[in-house]
Amino acid sequence: MYKYKVSILGTGFIGLCSAVCFADKDIKVIASTHNEKKAAQINDGIAPFYEEGLQEIMDRLKNSDQNIFQCITDPVKAVLETDISMITQGTPMREDKSIDLSFIESTAREIGEALKTKDTYHLVIVRSTVVPGTSRSLVGKIITEASGKVPGKDFGLCMQPEFLAEGRSIEDTLHPDRIVIGQYDDKSGSMLQEFYEYFYGEHLKNCPILRMNIESAELVKYGNNCLLSTKISYANEFANLAQLVPNVDVVEVMKGVGLDYRINSRFLGAGVGFGGSCFHKDVNAIKAWSKLKGYTSRLLEAVLDINDDQAIKMVDMAEELAGDLKKKRISLLGLAFKPGTDDMREAASIRIVNELVKRGVKDIVGYDPKANHTAEIELRNKIKYAQSIEEVLKDSECALLITEWDDFKKLTPDDFKKHMKSPNVIDGRRIFDFDLFNKSLPFKAIGRI
Ligand code: UGA
Repeated sequence: MYKYKVSILGTGFIGLCSAVCFADKDIKVIASTHNEKKAAQINDGIAPFYEEGLQEIMDRLKNSDQNIFQCITDPVKAVLETDISMITQGTPMREDKSIDLSFIESTAREIGEALKTKDTYHLVIVRSTVVPGTSRSLVGKIITEASGKVPGKDFGLCMQPEFLAEGRSIEDTLHPDRIVIGQYDDKSGSMLQEFYEYFYGEHLKNCPILRMNIESAELVKYGNNCLLSTKISYANEFANLAQLVPNVDVVEVMKGVGLDYRINSRFLGAGVGFGGSCFHKDVNAIKAWSKLKGYTSRLLEAVLDINDDQAIKMVDMAEELAGDLKKKRISLLGLAFKPGTDDMREAASIRIVNELVKRGVKDIVGYDPKANHTAEIELRNKIKYAQSIEEVLKDSECALLITEWDDFKKLTPDDFKKHMKSPNVIDGRRIFDFDLFNKSLPFKAIGRI
């Protein structure tokens, strides 16, 4: 008999990483997805996406008690066979940049359908990023409509925002720095807290659990991602200031700023701007939500504008260095939104390619150690795809460093001189030694002239 039986509805980064980590600690988990192929792959013990440490846990689970973790395509059954359900569906960005809650809505309906025939108390937890009001007024309401059950009596409701970053999802799941529990009522919150006390044990000594109302917890997640995005745009704003005068280096400036114990230096790295599936989506979602409520967030507007401008700035710098780019071969070092992933969502490389194409550049070659195949889906034939550093630099007249992969950090000025037709280099992530590169070849870097 297991102490806890949990259903995980949605098998993306949050869902699958939580599912396998729970199951690895003796919690029975039934994950559910509507994608049959994905469910089969997961049941075969194969991770459907790359995430450090995920495959190892899946191997371990496959070789242990087969019963502890399974993935099915029937969310109603998953709910019926468990006591706790976690909604971990995606909340993508709509065309108008507002939040798309349709997966949350349909999952709430499926939970309601299940609860209609379930006599025991069931705890529902929203772990997807949702705008304030969603868990209570959409999820809670739909479950009640579909089941006839009363929140706070027949079922519990919590919202627990997720803070895991891609590439560190397993590490972040196992070692969170805090757990935020938004509770519909005290019973719901206490049940979730007890679950985490069981799951984390000793680790909770260094990890505060914060209990609050549901809507505040929903906004904590946006507060977090918007502040991190703001720090990046702030660093990029100072990169712009640094580029007004010779010898000011934004890297040194942000190091000086970040050492203030009230600030800290993380996410003050100036560069080509943030990408990924979360920052754009979340800053846009909360901006659109607040506008709908009658408040225009000028700060968040500026955060996004500054971020978008970094791509234009990279191309401006390339033109200043190499002249008219139209007839030149341009190489892009790195395409993924950050190192350690093949994820191309909202990657700065997309904005840079679009800007180059807009200015009439036709010969663009890109290389990414992991993301060539995903980049091809996103960028299609706007660029050509090289299979190595040498190939991407061959015959090029300007190289733009976009993603700070370790392989690129090892490059010396001679490497660029050896392979390129004319070695113009733009460092969009500040990974190269400015003084060395600046004296060795035509060179520009974000946040320094
Ligand atoms: C982000 C947050 O870090 C997580 O806490 C959050 O849970 C997650 O979003 C989410 O909402 O699901 P992630 O998008 O995976 O995680 O990646 P980050 O490591 O935060 O990087 C985001 C972007 O910011 C990358 O493009 C990165 O290159 C850029 N960045 C980061 C900078 O440009 N400068 C920096 O100093 C740091």
